[in-house]
Amino acid sequence: MAYENILVEKKGAVGVITLNRPKVYNALSMALIAEVGQAVNAFEQDAEVGCLLIQGSEKVFAAGADIPEMASKDFPELFAMNFPYVQGDGWEVLESRRKPMLAAVSGMALGGGCELAMACDFILASDTARFGQPEVKLATMPGAGGTQRLTRAIGKAKAMEMCLTGRMMDASEAERSGLVSRILPVEELFTEALATAQTIAEQSRPVTALIKDAVDQAYETSLNAGMRFERHAFQSSFAFEDRSEGMQAFVEKRAPTFKNR
Ligand code: HXC
Repeated sequence: MAYENILVEKKGAVGVITLNRPKVYNALSMALIAEVGQAVNAFEQDAEVGCLLIQGSEKVFAAGADIPEMASKDFPELFAMNFPYVQGDGWEVLESRRKPMLAAVSGMALGGGCELAMACDFILASDTARFGQPEVKLATMPGAGGTQRLTRAIGKAKAMEMCLTGRMMDASEAERSGLVSRILPVEELFTEALATAQTIAEQSRPVTALIKDAVDQAYETSLNAGMRFERHAFQSSFAFEDRSEGMQAFVEKRAPTFKNR
């Protein structure tokens, strides 16, 4: 598959997607988002891949939707295509994927860029990272999770302020607020993100899928329903051969060999 807006490579058991429109700060054109969806789909189906990683450059993660491309659109057009859910690619694929995916954010992640990072399972940030939902300055608003995921991640007060003013958050505020899991020196970010993704990819894959589903339940259901889901998911991990292997390997003081079954 030839991609024009992203770079796609496998590094060990990690599928790496690098946003690659440097001249426009990795602006998320419809073509780019569709390519991200295609790459995610391909990695989902690739048995060698156990975890996905999406990143930009050291300078910028993504400055949001492609404004010139968006500028000429009208409501009937956006409604008809259900933008930003374009043609069964892009955002829907990202949101329905089962393999864990982490975002490595350096530089700005704005608008749809912040939303893309938040659509991943967690975000590692460099000390130069900045997050924002500046759509209000264009007299529009977030459309792919900025008012929803950001609010759940950092709470109403900060999300409200960021979405209403367009103020950016730096890396340390983002970590303090729970938007990112860790901050790394910029020169270490991509290496550490890859190592983290590789660690996840080495676990039993059906189990990482269960864990991901269970953590997501915490966002989507009541505590009671989430606790029930977790209990049943935990119990069902005992149906996998890997669970026996994991515990047996501990008892025998050796490294486990998982078959992803
Ligand atoms: C298209 C963009 C762009 C964008 C930057 N560029 N952001 N092109 N869409 N979102 C282009 C600029 O036009 C410029 O190209 C080049 O990238 C560098 O940008 P500069 O403005 O010259 O750089 P700088 O002064 O460093 O400012 C960087 C910036 C600023 C703070 C990121 O560009 C900016 O405010 N961009 C818009 C951010 C934004 O509003 N994002 C939300 C979009 S709406 P040229 O050719 O002039 O050199 C959105 C809705 C999502 O995301 C809805 C769901 C998907």
